[in-house]
Amino acid sequence: MSRIAVFNQKGGVGKTTTVLNLAAGLSRRNSRPLVIDMDPQGHLTQILDPLNQSAGQSLFGFYQDNKPLTQLEIDWAGVGSLIPAHNVLIKVDAIFGKGPAVLNKLKLGLDALEKESSPRDTIIDCCPYLGVLSLGAIFAADMVLIPISSDYLSLLGAKKVEKTLKALEPVVKKRIDRRYVMTCYDRRLKFTFDVHEQARDLFGEEVLNTVISKNVSVAKSPQFKTDVFQYSPNSSGAQDYEALLCELYGEKPPGAIER
Ligand SMILES: Nc1ncnc2c1ncn2[C@@H]1O[C@H](COP(=O)(O)OP(=O)(O)O)[C@@H](O)[C@H]1O
Ligand SMILES: [Mg+2]
Repeated sequence: MSRIAVFNQKGGVGKTTTVLNLAAGLSRRNSRPLVIDMDPQGHLTQILDPLNQSAGQSLFGFYQDNKPLTQLEIDWAGVGSLIPAHNVLIKVDAIFGKGPAVLNKLKLGLDALEKESSPRDTIIDCCPYLGVLSLGAIFAADMVLIPISSDYLSLLGAKKVEKTLKALEPVVKKRIDRRYVMTCYDRRLKFTFDVHEQARDLFGEEVLNTVISKNVSVAKSPQFKTDVFQYSPNSSGAQDYEALLCELYGEKPPGAIER
């Protein structure tokens, strides 16, 4: 079982899209992942569109009222469960400061949840800035997955994440496991390969071999409140996210030849 925080200090790089499709891919492996929407913009929550969208029944209830995470989970039909976001999450930094208690809160909350229910894969959709929420997600996670939409500004965001993780390592007294994944990969553009090469120069082996192509089915599926596997199972987007899961979980990719 793993806890993955999907984070980049830039918006629009494919974090939410990656969380959505990783969760859906895991559910196809008979897992019922827990997804936590930590972005006050709540894009993932809006895709699922739950009926009760009150602040107290969102992740904010965990921070504000100490509600156990298990009470905030809603069923995500066919996938697993979601702890929804609410726009009031934007106030968490201002209300609770940046002390160790609030920074470790999510980790402890997830530890408690795992004791109560059977262990599950957990995927966290982070907000695109460094604050209590994203720091809490990094502390709670076993791995940080950093999407880089294949452009220069996204690479700058990833460089900021790398700097942040390096600064946190003396605090957590270990290397923070991280992987970088290229998203919105457009093989028609030389620029894409340039950014990919720069990412490899900067982050070395931590750049995953799998790339997520720019793909219309990936972009369209949220409009139909679903993931790319449901929307277009044979699309390159579905194949890429399947390959990403295989690489992350050390499985053989589909179609791999036995030697
Ligand atoms: N592989 C992809 N192919 C095409 N469009 C994509 C792909 N990944 C993300 N997008 C689109 O890019 C935009 C930003 O993605 P999103 O996941 O919301 O980023 P973030 O959560 O980092 O802000 C969305 O419109 C999304 O549909
Ligand atoms: Mg997002």
